Amino acid sequence: MKNKITKAIIPAAGLGTRFLPVTKSIPKEMLPIVDIPTIQYIVEEVVKSGINNILIVVSSNKNDLVDYFDSNFELEETLRKKGKVKELEIIEKINNLANIQYVRQKYPKGLGDAILCAKNYINNEPFAVILGDDVIINKDKTIQPGLKQCIDIYEKHKKMVLGVQHVSYDETDKYGIIQPKNKNINSNSEIEVEGIIEKPKPENAPSQYAVIGRYILPPEIFEKIENSSLSSRGEIELTPALEAIAKQDGAYACNIIGERYDIGSKFGLIKATIDEALDHKEVKEEVSNYIKELAKKL
Ligand code: UTP
Repeated sequence: MKNKITKAIIPAAGLGTRFLPVTKSIPKEMLPIVDIPTIQYIVEEVVKSGINNILIVVSSNKNDLVDYFDSNFELEETLRKKGKVKELEIIEKINNLANIQYVRQKYPKGLGDAILCAKNYINNEPFAVILGDDVIINKDKTIQPGLKQCIDIYEKHKKMVLGVQHVSYDETDKYGIIQPKNKNINSNSEIEVEGIIEKPKPENAPSQYAVIGRYILPPEIFEKIENSSLSSRGEIELTPALEAIAKQDGAYACNIIGERYDIGSKFGLIKATIDEALDHKEVKEEVSNYIKELAKKL
């Protein structure tokens, strides 16, 4: 892999069944962390990582997400007439965050299939993938965004990079777990990868480093996905294609620094909301007092 990373894909076409009933009509990526939808956190991470061209993979019931990054003439005119300058600025900033395009995944056939929908957009270059429901927040602003940490490792080695974080042994069966090349990897920021095992039981896990929704992929991944067979869940997964690239060309994992929230799970969204509310200038005091009072009763 040679080129610079200039494009990012955000798969956001999943059904969000863990979040029903709200996801019956509201995309889970539009669920807010206080007052900002999850997808805006994701798009901002991409932009802060130096990428402006973004393709979001959506499905037929994700139109709210598409509308969110578009202009809303009526709202903007009303805010302008009423002199609500601050609100207008916030809205206009969202319209101009990045150069965003969309592609539809016809059926939710899995993450591999969602990425395959981006094949024509990518044009034979390496590219970034960041999942639409996996938020990483760094309160310490001197630390680079999660995706940028992966890009830095890609630029050093010019090989596929998988964003990972350390998980406890009883969680390995929820993730793709990397098999490191060397045994002694404690707290390294980059880890050479030999293979990946999808959702291993703790006793079979080759490490405790789980792939967490940030990837720098070579264009050859498309052919590997096309050659993948359906998983036991009847989906086209991404892991077999990642494994094939790692075996063929080698790969690195980036041990990402940052607090990660799985917004696809209820507890993940609740945690993110509390943490962000405690940092939100309008409500932090009220929320902090409320939590202190609540804690006394627990
Ligand atoms: P998840 O497995 O977390 O999403 O996929 P899901 O299928 O919506 O979740 P549940 O299990 O039903 O609650 C991770 C990311 O990949 C996208 C999702 O939108 C999410 O951002 N995805 C998943 C697709 O774009 N297409 C798919 O077919 C599956």
